[in-house]
Amino acid sequence: MTYEHYFAAHLEQLKAEGRYRTFADLERISGQFPKAIWRKTPEDSGQLVTIWCCNDYLGMGQHPAVLDAMQQAVATYGAGAGGTRNISGTTHLHVELEAELASLHSKEAALLFTSGYISNQATLSTLGRMIPGLVIFSDECNHASMIEGIRQSKAEYHVFRHNDLGHLRQLLDMVGPDCPKLIAFESVYSMDGDFAPLTDLCALAEEYGAMTYLDEVHAVGMYGAQGAGVAEAQNCAHRLTIIEGTLGKAFGVMGGYIASSRLLVDAIRSSASGFIFTTSLVPAVCAGALASIRHLRHSREERRLHQLRAAQLKAAFAAAQLPVMDSPSHIVPVMVGDPVQCKAISVKLLEEHGLYVQPINYPTVPRGTERLRFTPSPAHSEEDIKTVVQALRIVWDEVMSGADSSSSEQQNNHAALSVA
Ligand SMILES: Cc1ncc(COP(=O)(O)O)c(C=O)c1O
Repeated sequence: MTYEHYFAAHLEQLKAEGRYRTFADLERISGQFPKAIWRKTPEDSGQLVTIWCCNDYLGMGQHPAVLDAMQQAVATYGAGAGGTRNISGTTHLHVELEAELASLHSKEAALLFTSGYISNQATLSTLGRMIPGLVIFSDECNHASMIEGIRQSKAEYHVFRHNDLGHLRQLLDMVGPDCPKLIAFESVYSMDGDFAPLTDLCALAEEYGAMTYLDEVHAVGMYGAQGAGVAEAQNCAHRLTIIEGTLGKAFGVMGGYIASSRLLVDAIRSSASGFIFTTSLVPAVCAGALASIRHLRHSREERRLHQLRAAQLKAAFAAAQLPVMDSPSHIVPVMVGDPVQCKAISVKLLEEHGLYVQPINYPTVPRGTERLRFTPSPAHSEEDIKTVVQALRIVWDEVMSGADSSSSEQQNNHAALSVA
């Protein structure tokens, strides 16, 4: 019996659909964010590029306070955590970080996970199994990790149209008033860059006696007076049952968490397989995240400059008559609407202009809405913005006029640029 042909067939299918992913080999340069060395092949000596699609939104992954904390933690505690949280993997840094996160979100308690993905998947799947008869209502644009968690919970679930409170109400009306309910949504949707109507969602949940689950992954560090997210900015954190976040985007490190009531957190801590049966975050990661959160709680400069750069980039794309989408947040999507053109633009920007922005294709976005997703940071200068707008204008015209001489062979070589 042989099995390799299954894998080959699967990969062929992905390639035939233009969905095969290879990754750009990027070497970030500490202290020079958002610059990196890009290698076309492993043997290549590399070329200096500017990254325009990084989720280290504020450049905190290279902030001196974060680097110092991590280096000190490695020197003090060594590399690994040494076990699961239950089996000697709870260091004092884990305890401190959970207290800091609870305080950031004004909740009684917080719980760390190894990523934002695992936080969603582990918490939602556990809640659905723990509460008999729970019905979950999920925004149609929710992240894959929430969808996975909801499916694994085996609870009954209903998907409401994106940000459509009328539709959500219709679905809530379909289940009995005494039935336990949970509404799950995000604050910033990362592909269109739009916000959820948080206070309206809270009001609806209160009216129907439902719990709420908010994913603030694309907002923590960046919104609110202390960087606690959109719920803080809109003064509704206290109305949300669970706030989930990541340490891997604006906080610049890695890991995920939930913040909620002491009892809920204790119940998840005691039952969630994705929390219990895995080695805990390494101490240096906890130290880096703590330094990053503490810095962003009192420094507003990063948030101010971040919003300014996002506004400048949107205005510059619009002035250059590039189809920038109308996003109210820090995410700046430019609609292409075709996977081959989207990839071709991305390849040319990288190879000919030293600018890296990956194409976003199906299944991350619906077919026909393929786009480039720019994430300007406080470290991108006004000069960087001028450069990227000029380059995109040139490349756009080349690709859209069909004058692009780069063949599909070139595009195959650089499927690298598919979204992660
Ligand atoms: C909305 C949302 N939630 C959760 C995650 C997962 O977070 P992490 O990258 O920390 O696993 C992502 C990742 O991009 C996301 O976009």
